[in-house]
Amino acid sequence: MALLFLSTPERAAVWAPMFKEAGEHLVVGEDAVSDPAEITHLMCWVPPKDLQRYPNLKVVIGSGAGVDQMPRMPDGVALVRTVAPGIEEMVRDWVVMSTLMLHRGMPQYLKQADAGQWTGHDVPRARGTRVGIMGMGRIGTLAARTLSQMEFDVVGWSRSGRAVDDFVVYGNDGLDDFLALSDILICLLPLTDETRGILNADLFAKLPHGAHLVHAGRGAQLDMDAMKQALDTGALTSAMLDVTNPEPLPDTHWAWGDPRVVITPHIAANTDHAEGARHALAVVRASRENADLPGRVDQDRGY
Ligand code: GLV
Repeated sequence: MALLFLSTPERAAVWAPMFKEAGEHLVVGEDAVSDPAEITHLMCWVPPKDLQRYPNLKVVIGSGAGVDQMPRMPDGVALVRTVAPGIEEMVRDWVVMSTLMLHRGMPQYLKQADAGQWTGHDVPRARGTRVGIMGMGRIGTLAARTLSQMEFDVVGWSRSGRAVDDFVVYGNDGLDDFLALSDILICLLPLTDETRGILNADLFAKLPHGAHLVHAGRGAQLDMDAMKQALDTGALTSAMLDVTNPEPLPDTHWAWGDPRVVITPHIAANTDHAEGARHALAVVRASRENADLPGRVDQDRGY
């Protein structure tokens, strides 16, 4: 039983002593594989093409929170995403920062700063401002808790519509009602066939006029041209994006120069090396004991 590790040397330097101490076998890089039959686990962002080379492979662990970049696994191979408190907390922080920046008009103040212009505008309150979070998994729930502590009125939307804490969570058929309650719309959805292109003209038209968009899901969920039109008509006031469509965003793209849009280059979170290793060790142990794998992905559902 061995875990084949396909990631950066910096990460390997943290994983190797942790696996050694746990008495687990770590093989760093495909060149170091002496017997493909001993590889039972694989950790990577995207797996190598010929997974058939590893006849005893049982689990593939994606190195991030999202697994939309992964192909469908062969029969008998489970897919797991990395579950790490650091990822969840970092994305929560980015979402809270972005929500506050848009709420308090920072795009406009950044533009004024460029011109050295000292002009104040209305100061809105969080209390009474409605925030809608699409995707009420672990990250969405953390963000909901923090934002509601800050007095925002938070509602959620998820495929299942399952209630989380005391938050009202709308399901699939409640999307329009949810959007009507989202002065600030936050997207944290995983990328699936159902969510591809979900942030489109039709959706923007259902938000309260002048809403803000905070997007930390996946770029392919966003129709950037529809977002521009919504900004031009005033349907949207401003947007903060950590993911773009396409990604990376070309340096000539209109969104870079648009003062209503603030972009960060997919940096909301990264996986802490030690937390990733602890998660992988927990997966290895669970699979040895035939227990539920932490972070297991339902490959039909796509997350
Ligand atoms: C980053 O986007 C991740 O999936 O971890």
